Amino acid sequence: MKLKRIKALALTTALLIGAGCVCPLSLYDDGTSFSASAAETNSTVYTINITLMQFHSEGKSMGNESMIPQAHIVLDSDGTAQLQINMIPLTYLNRLGYLGSLKKVTTVLEENKYQYPTKIETLEAAVLEEYIDVYDSFNDPESEYADANVVGKWYPKKLSIPIDFENHEDDILVQVYVPVMESIMAGGGTKFAVLDIDWNTLTEVVAGDANGDGEFNVADVIVLQKWLLAVPDTHFADWKAVDFCEDDKLDVFDLCLMKRALIAENTTQE
Ligand code: HEM
Repeated sequence: MKLKRIKALALTTALLIGAGCVCPLSLYDDGTSFSASAAETNSTVYTINITLMQFHSEGKSMGNESMIPQAHIVLDSDGTAQLQINMIPLTYLNRLGYLGSLKKVTTVLEENKYQYPTKIETLEAAVLEEYIDVYDSFNDPESEYADANVVGKWYPKKLSIPIDFENHEDDILVQVYVPVMESIMAGGGTKFAVLDIDWNTLTEVVAGDANGDGEFNVADVIVLQKWLLAVPDTHFADWKAVDFCEDDKLDVFDLCLMKRALIAENTTQE
């Protein structure tokens, strides 16, 4: 994951004094994340691996490459959970395409003799982030190939669907709409696929664990500090673990809260 960095640590540190968690300074990320709004204090966040499989076949779906394999599950204290998936554009047969929409199939009401669903009930995935400013020939209102299903809309970047955490819900039937596929053949843009959830990979995101060793200690503070100073080859195991401001950005305000949290943790342990 590449995150753009601002190399103004010294300057912004001065702004920090007495700032608390106001987090007005922004750094931007272009990689995976989970929603800050979902990351409320009472939530537990996990990473989990997902694969998009073909409907009615053992193989991976061609659409699998459009999903970042590591997703997040945000589990709230009331037991409800959301699976958050990060989408990326996909090139296939020399054509680049974005996902238009994704629905979770909640009930198959009718199917044909080939067990292909013909009548379904669905739940539209919530869009948590979009590809702002990306216009292609399908969503651009100026385009002669504009697709009525997506025209004037931004493509989804991060989606959220409810998931049964307690019962380790798996093999979730989804229906996708992909404008580039629709452009190849009318009706061909809507496809079924199955989301395979690898519950064996479920890992709780430990707050502050920048280096992914399962602990939060001074080594993690150093990782964030180095990253803010743009030291080459500085990586996070899961950058969201250090997003202390829970605003989907990393900056010196996170560093400030991180240090405070570490001090508090060490004080409690004494
Ligand atoms: C967000 C990106 C995309 C997603 C989620 C997606 C999803 C799917 C799914 C679920 C299928 C059904 C077969 C399978 O599961 O393998 C499929 C088939 C297909 N897709 Fe895509 N696709 C995407 C992008 C593209 C692009 C960029 C092309 C470019 C030409 C493309 C062309 C096709 C073709 C030709 C088929 C086979 C047609 C058929 O089965 O009727 N797709 N896609």
